[in-house]
Amino acid sequence: MTILVTGGAGFIGANFVYLELKEHPEDRIVCIDKLTYAGNLETLEEAMKYPNFRFEKMDICDREAVFQLFEEEKPDIVVNFAAESHVDRSIEDPGIFLQTNILGTQVLMDASRKYGVKRYHQVSTDEVYGDLPLDRPDLFFTEETPLKTSSPYSSSKAGADLLVNAYHRTFGLPTTISRCSNNYGPYQFPEKLIPLMIANALADKPLPVYGEGLNVRDWLYVEDHCKAIDLIIRDGKVGEVYNIGGHNEMKNIDIVKIICKALDKPESLITHVTDRKGHDMRYAIDPAKIHRELGWLPETMFKDGIQKTIQWYLDHKEWWERIISGEYQNYFEKMYGDRLKDAE
Ligand code: NAD
Ligand code: DAU
Repeated sequence: MTILVTGGAGFIGANFVYLELKEHPEDRIVCIDKLTYAGNLETLEEAMKYPNFRFEKMDICDREAVFQLFEEEKPDIVVNFAAESHVDRSIEDPGIFLQTNILGTQVLMDASRKYGVKRYHQVSTDEVYGDLPLDRPDLFFTEETPLKTSSPYSSSKAGADLLVNAYHRTFGLPTTISRCSNNYGPYQFPEKLIPLMIANALADKPLPVYGEGLNVRDWLYVEDHCKAIDLIIRDGKVGEVYNIGGHNEMKNIDIVKIICKALDKPESLITHVTDRKGHDMRYAIDPAKIHRELGWLPETMFKDGIQKTIQWYLDHKEWWERIISGEYQNYFEKMYGDRLKDAE
């Protein structure tokens, strides 16, 4: 089988590429990625050594290039990870989110229709369900929860999900969608909570916690997410949505404290800064369907996953130090400069 993976130079896509190369050596993996600020070819260095792996720098919105690639490779399965993925950036500049996340998805599905792919899988997010109140711990997102988004990012992902369902119903495209909670693990870009806090703590810099830090996220080790997608593309039912999550809800402030402790850094580095606009309070996935139908369960406990992740960042300083020494400095100043000054 040939599997086309988009966005494979990013965090989850790269972890998925490595899982597939390890678990399914009989398959060919073709990866396309635009290599935006979030894409990093260094991450795929090891993958490049595999004869059954091909990488092409490509924008999923580039219809001509995408169709040409489908013509050459005739993929059996398409897994679409490619996206603008950071909520804070979508609040600053929504346009590129609509472009890549919605129109790019359309291009991939048009090509998938024309070349008769056996499965088009859309990697979506729990953020399409909006958020849950902190005082209702009994509530969870199920696949039937209505879409109700908060940020331009989550709206663009919900828009793509609706389009995927439309292509399934109208054109019979064999689609599946997965909606996962927050991932953590190796190769995550240091703009996201966990790697940002690790990098800042190691440099004895302030740890910018939005608001009180009471917002809750449902954290899942990235490999568990990738294993769930692997199951869905092979055994999942066409036309279905699968929620993925580990029942591992944690407050942001507690995560940051765990990181301080693990790195032996003082909690006095924690700096409460102006909250994110429209900040979702709580995400909590009910993963009963994927467990019942496909037998999936998370394998990595948070206490082990966070240790492995911190160790990975300690062992791969050159990977993230190169990132934060470049354009990232301007990003950090723009997003956090005033907030940190206000917090003083
Ligand atoms: P990421 O930002 O680390 O990686 C995204 C990748 O997509 C990058 O390599 C980037 O270069 C590439 N890309 C962006 N625009 C592109 C375009 N137009 N054409 C081709 N490639 C393009 O993101 P991630 O955290 O790995 O997320 C991957 C997917 O998983 C996204 O669709 C995201 O919505 C979804 N998701 C993420 C999480 C999470 O916690 N990170 C949770 C649930 C779902
Ligand atoms: O739930 C899945 C989603 O998880 C994915 O769809 C997104 O692509 C992914 O980025 C992630 O979104 P979040 O907004 O939840 O992740 P982020 O790491 O940006 O923030 C996690 C929480 O930490 C959130 O409540 C905001 C807070 N935060 C984040 C940063 C970067 C801080 O307090 N300080 C920070 O500096």
